[in-house]
Amino acid sequence: MAKHNNHSNASAWMGIQKKRWALMALALFSLSTAIVFFMRTAFDSCSAGYGGGEEREAEVGLEPNPLEFMKSRLVLMVSHELSLSGGPLLLMELAFLLRKVGAEVVWITNQKPAESDDVIYSLERKMLNRGVQVFSAKSQKAIDTALKADLIVLNTAVAGKWLDSVLKENVPRVLPKVLWWIHEMRGHYFKVEYVKHLPFVAGAMIDSHATAEYWKNRTRERLGIAMPETYVVHLGNSKELMEVAEDSVSRRVLREHVRESLGVRSDDLLFAIINSVSRGKGQDLFLRAFYESLQLIQEKKLQVPTMHAVVVGSDMNAQTKFETELRTFVLEKNIQDRVHFVNKTLTVAPYLAAIDVLVQNSQARGECFGRITIEAMAFQLPVLGTAAGGTMEIVVNGTTGFLHPAGKEGVTPLANNIVKLATHVERRLTIGKQGYVRVKERFLEPHMAHRIALVLKDVLRKAKSTTNS
Ligand SMILES: *[C@@H]1O[C@H](CO)[C@@H](O)[C@H](O)[C@H]1NC(C)=O
Ligand SMILES: *[C@@H]1O[C@H](CO)[C@@H](O)[C@H](O)[C@H]1NC(C)=O
Ligand SMILES: *[C@@H]1O[C@H](CO)[C@@H](O)[C@H](O)[C@H]1NC(C)=O
Repeated sequence: MAKHNNHSNASAWMGIQKKRWALMALALFSLSTAIVFFMRTAFDSCSAGYGGGEEREAEVGLEPNPLEFMKSRLVLMVSHELSLSGGPLLLMELAFLLRKVGAEVVWITNQKPAESDDVIYSLERKMLNRGVQVFSAKSQKAIDTALKADLIVLNTAVAGKWLDSVLKENVPRVLPKVLWWIHEMRGHYFKVEYVKHLPFVAGAMIDSHATAEYWKNRTRERLGIAMPETYVVHLGNSKELMEVAEDSVSRRVLREHVRESLGVRSDDLLFAIINSVSRGKGQDLFLRAFYESLQLIQEKKLQVPTMHAVVVGSDMNAQTKFETELRTFVLEKNIQDRVHFVNKTLTVAPYLAAIDVLVQNSQARGECFGRITIEAMAFQLPVLGTAAGGTMEIVVNGTTGFLHPAGKEGVTPLANNIVKLATHVERRLTIGKQGYVRVKERFLEPHMAHRIALVLKDVLRKAKSTTNS
């Protein structure tokens, strides 16, 4: 903290300006193709929307760090892969939180491509810079660390493969100190091959009640195994994202920049869906609802600003049937000037700054959590979400957004909700502010750290009593 002196006002102002420009430069630079990383689609049920960027040294908050008790503990983190998708990045965030309190953290990645990979290289550098040790998954050092560790965090169901393939006969010795962090909710993860040790680990940590409930049912009914003690831990927004979200100048600059790049005027209304493009994320049904809302507005002769739909998360290279279907729909309905496709990007902040409403249209069981939802709420955006999965634990229907049913029957309700937000400006802004308040109350990184701390304490206590007995 800077001391107060004669220059304090000027230097504080300079400090703020410097920080602000650094933030904007980062966000804008990330927007350009130079460092646009493409998200992997491996995580279909959990949103992989992240604000990118280097973390700054965080100011120490007023509260003592809830993870303080992890100081000097040895923690092994087992990641199924290393990429810019939601799962690995979340585990990295936990690794850094633990490093901050002086824990000894070792990272291994179970599945790595044979050829060198820039993303893996830069993520590993980032970890090494933060004092996380990176070992090869199959090395003796990894096995020794597993045996010595106070805690092992297995990340995602798929990471379970590492236990048998590397630890072999040592598996039973480590299970009592394993915390299994699960972020997926799709059928193909319910394989005995991945999760047969699940009943014997110290605990499972899952991102939403809906997902935890689903795992409980599925493991019992499909696999005939029981879940271990299960902890639901809602995620939180990173400090970097909150900094951009709470800086009105950055927000405005990003808003102008993105709108200009899309060819959208400053008073037009933007409804965006930000997820990798796939049927499960419901971009097709969103576009249908959007088209229906345009028709409703025309029929009823409602006075609203020009409306646009933005689909962030396209992969033009993939040329999938689904991508083609979306574009064909837009051409058929002749709404090309109203619908914008944006490539996959990890840098969501500029888009959140630029839009007016987030649509979270994940289908079937919905999102496992859906981090983009709390990120949008941080930017004071109302959320129109499907009444499914983690979304229902985040969005308060009528207060921070509106829920509509998943599936085709949700199209007309979503269209009506789009019209409602378009016609009621005050209401839209109020809902956005209420979403922000909700994020500040429960979806920040310190909240997540606090929730994780309770779980880790419990797991350490149990692991200890097992080794003593
Ligand atoms: C789990 O199973 C119970 C009873 O079989 C059912 O009531 C509940 O809806 C199921 N939950 C999920 C998420 O499938
Ligand atoms: C989006 O991706 C396509 C295909 O990779 C590429 O041709 C296009 O330039 C990209 N657009 C932007 C804005 O980066
Ligand atoms: C959300 O609220 C609306 C009324 O504002 C109601 O019609 C709808 O059924 C509610 N949906 C859910 C899932 O609670």
